[in-house]
Amino acid sequence: MNYMHVDYSTKIPNNVNLSEDRQVLKALEGWHPGYIDWWNDMGPDGFQQSLVYLRTAYSVDPRGWAKFDYVKMPDYRWGILLAPQEENRVIPFGENFGKPAWQEVPGEHRAMLRRLIVIQGDTEPASVEQQRHLGKTAPSLYDLRNLFQVNVEEGRHLWAMVYLLQKYFGRDGREEADELLRRRSGDADSPRMLGAFNEATPDWLSFFMFTYFTDRDGKMQLHSLAQSGFDPLSRTCRFMLTEEAHHMFVGETGISRVVQRTCEAMKEAAVTDPTDIAKVRALGVIDLPTIQKKLNLHYSLSLDLFGSEVSTNAANAFNAGVKGRYKETQIEDDHRLQSSTYPVLKLVNGEIKRVDEPALTALNMRLRDDYTQDCAKGMLRWNKIIATSGYQFKLTLPNVAFHRAIGEFKDIHATPDGVLIDDGTWNKRRNEWLPSTADGDFIASLMTPVTEIGQFAPWIAPPKVGIDNKPGDFEYVKIET
Ligand SMILES: [Fe+2]
Ligand SMILES: [Fe+2]
Repeated sequence: MNYMHVDYSTKIPNNVNLSEDRQVLKALEGWHPGYIDWWNDMGPDGFQQSLVYLRTAYSVDPRGWAKFDYVKMPDYRWGILLAPQEENRVIPFGENFGKPAWQEVPGEHRAMLRRLIVIQGDTEPASVEQQRHLGKTAPSLYDLRNLFQVNVEEGRHLWAMVYLLQKYFGRDGREEADELLRRRSGDADSPRMLGAFNEATPDWLSFFMFTYFTDRDGKMQLHSLAQSGFDPLSRTCRFMLTEEAHHMFVGETGISRVVQRTCEAMKEAAVTDPTDIAKVRALGVIDLPTIQKKLNLHYSLSLDLFGSEVSTNAANAFNAGVKGRYKETQIEDDHRLQSSTYPVLKLVNGEIKRVDEPALTALNMRLRDDYTQDCAKGMLRWNKIIATSGYQFKLTLPNVAFHRAIGEFKDIHATPDGVLIDDGTWNKRRNEWLPSTADGDFIASLMTPVTEIGQFAPWIAPPKVGIDNKPGDFEYVKIET
């Protein structure tokens, strides 16, 4: 069977031979109407009849896997696509290191695998829900299209996880698949499973921060699951990563364009002090200190997604061969970690210190460190824009102890520089470090939609290149209401 080929003859495009897997096909077809109901209720508000220039995955060949065309979002072909099976793949870590990868769920790891798949699956629709109102205030048709591209692909990622649940987990898998459509981001009674996915995404700067920082947590998790000894999960995640790259591109370039426009406006108006917030805001752009506050918020919320620094769950998942490390196969060590250690940031006698912990229980910390390194690349790009414009201002990642709700630092307060402070100081100063209501109101005041072809809101620079190399005057969304 040719796994590069995607079968479009069934209702659900796939490269997993669904037409011969009647039971799973039936289960998925049974789940489909609920998914469409969810999309109509909780997907992008409006624009469902608009033609959007979207990419759709039609192959899993890395050399050419997507095609671009105008599609109405409800007609997007949400498919089930797994990266090709690697011949003779072995489990690359843990107690089962070197044994053949599992094609079926091993009974002893069933509960753990199901939990990991459900948690990953839950984040996918959650972000669509969080972003559903943004279409109304898009700064351009280009950005509107990118939002919808991210949204339909998060929808496809939900399908990816639901396929695994329905194919490999029987009745409880089907129940979990239904639950994924029932929970709602921010809902008091039935929220999404992870904190950052219940926060609001009120404006486009938040959206760019979310796709930069929170989708990047997704990238790290998918990389770890792509190492899994459970081969179908590994293959699913590997293909999801090809789509995920675009989401982080949207975030990184989005923030770049905001920073660039702010610097241009300051230069045009001969503003010399980028921290003169009132002066910069009067120009109708977002001042750099406020961008820093948004960054502080989204980075710290995303750090919480990695869980506790020291975790026996993480150790168990690794030992079992279920969830590996970032780029596991490229790491040079024994891949068992029975006797090695890893330095973990901890609170020791009121001070933040590095303490060696058994590497196995410190896997969350390690993944979070890999994440922080990955995040730092954006700072370099954004700071280059600021420096090239002649301004002395640096965007920085706050200390990992800052504004945390999970792990070692959840019960203390720290400044973005990592200085421990008491509750009173925190309450007095938090608005210096995190977006205040007034900051939110100011950003909201800039969020007026721009729908003319090739035009951009005055607070954001146009992109350097178009999607699919389209020219600047390309109509990315043909709005029909
Ligand atoms: Fe995703
Ligand atoms: Fe994503």
